[in-house]
Amino acid sequence: MKILKLGGSVITDKSGYRKAKPESIEKLARCVAGIWKRGARDLILVHGAGSFGHAVVIKHGLENGVKNTAQKLGYADTHAACCELSSMLVGALIANGAPAVSIPPAMVLSLKDKRIARFDTKIVNDYLQSGYLPVLFGDMAPDSALGGYPCSGDQIVAYLGKGADMIVLATDVDGVIGDNGAVIPLITRQNLQEISKHLKLTENDVTGGMKGKLEELLGLDTVSYIVNGNCPERLESLFLGKPAPCTQINELKK
Ligand SMILES: Nc1ncnc2c1ncn2[C@@H]1O[C@H](COP(=O)(O)OP(=O)(O)O)[C@@H](O)[C@H]1O
Ligand SMILES: [Mg+2]
Repeated sequence: MKILKLGGSVITDKSGYRKAKPESIEKLARCVAGIWKRGARDLILVHGAGSFGHAVVIKHGLENGVKNTAQKLGYADTHAACCELSSMLVGALIANGAPAVSIPPAMVLSLKDKRIARFDTKIVNDYLQSGYLPVLFGDMAPDSALGGYPCSGDQIVAYLGKGADMIVLATDVDGVIGDNGAVIPLITRQNLQEISKHLKLTENDVTGGMKGKLEELLGLDTVSYIVNGNCPERLESLFLGKPAPCTQINELKK
């Protein structure tokens, strides 16, 4: 199984409020549909929520959970916004010939203190086995400790990615940037400490930005790649097994 995540930073304007990037969505939908049509029938797509998630969570004050009626309205509004973004991407994928089906995480998983505690992955696998392209995304989710909490696309990737053959995460940067603006080619649990000085906190991000992403990915044994989604040809290369500028997370098992 292969997982591709399109970051919220690529398909939305994270400095805006519920602001999509229609041209990027179209370009990436064409790229992903192409990968699928060329035979990647074991592909699961995950996308971030970008400004349809983080900004809406902040507006409604859901950073510490969902308790009162106003926050429940906020949960519902954020979930609706995330679904709206997913519909845009799914619509573009279908128009490009990929049978994409959006599976809202709010309906198939729940959290306990911010972490996934239950995930009905059978639904995802059944769609995959039946020849569809399942699409999951950063979304609000019920949380048994906090009432409700945002579940990042990165956490979904990490959960589904145990045992995956390939994980590719597209963001709006060429990889993890280190000294002198150069892309760090490889990050492992061994050099995380050393490179962590380069990880800046991102504004308008409630799920930890690049640091959160690395923590999720380093928890896996699978190799993953952080690549620039504004250059779809790099995604294509990685899926064809060819090199592309990116940061590799974890080492290939010998
Ligand atoms: N050392 C770093 N290298 C690259 N990006 C970094 C670094 N530190 C912080 N970032 C930020 O992380 C962002 C990517 O993470 P994030 O916004 O969570 O992406 P996504 O929306 O795709 O999940 C970049 O846009 C950048 O602003
Ligand atoms: Mg993020």
